Amino acid sequence: MKISYYGHSAFMLDEGKIKIFIDPYLRGNGIELDALDISNLSHIFVTHGHSDHLGDTIELALKTGALVVSNAEIIRYLKSKGLENTHSMYISGSWEFTFGRVKMTTALHGSGIYEGDLILYGGNPCGYLLNVGGKKIYHAGDTGLSYEMKLLEDENIDIAMLPIGGNYTMDIDDALKAIEFIKPKKVIPMHFLKKPLIDIDPCDFAVRVKEVDTIVLREKESVEI
Ligand code: NI
Ligand code: MN
Repeated sequence: MKISYYGHSAFMLDEGKIKIFIDPYLRGNGIELDALDISNLSHIFVTHGHSDHLGDTIELALKTGALVVSNAEIIRYLKSKGLENTHSMYISGSWEFTFGRVKMTTALHGSGIYEGDLILYGGNPCGYLLNVGGKKIYHAGDTGLSYEMKLLEDENIDIAMLPIGGNYTMDIDDALKAIEFIKPKKVIPMHFLKKPLIDIDPCDFAVRVKEVDTIVLREKESVEI
């Protein structure tokens, strides 16, 4: 499986017939949709309603017909924008998708959808635990450190994508604690750089991680796992 990073919290998991985007914040991050190979995009997972995560979900879904997965409030919002191929879940719920089982996990954060001057209610923010291509992948979404993460230790997670930028989410110190709780085999930092208040160097995180492989991906970089 190929994991491609598009900056911030946007990842594509490419497993041949299955191509999954998580939090596809692209154009706002200077990445044009035309520049991506999304012809066979099959699924989009959205962790919460903030624009740097909901991102280009609507355009990508309308272009590709990919199944969009999120909480029920965000799915209802997306349906009002014309999306038909959707699946709503709630925290602790899991579902067997065509590629494998996915569990929605807790996140400590907000989820409002900003539309003009309005803030629409976006339900609870979340993370996802995905079984795909024989691997267990955890995308934490935007979250603070929580003791709930200790529950993930039993999952034997192969790769954990964790926010490290601080201010809006865990910082490096808290992400290190999260690794102690989760005990993943590998970790990929996310939610840093390019925005005010989270402009930190992921290498400062990587050098402090012990006993777990850290994969620092820069924008548009990929890794085969
Ligand atoms: Ni957020
Ligand atoms: Mn965010």
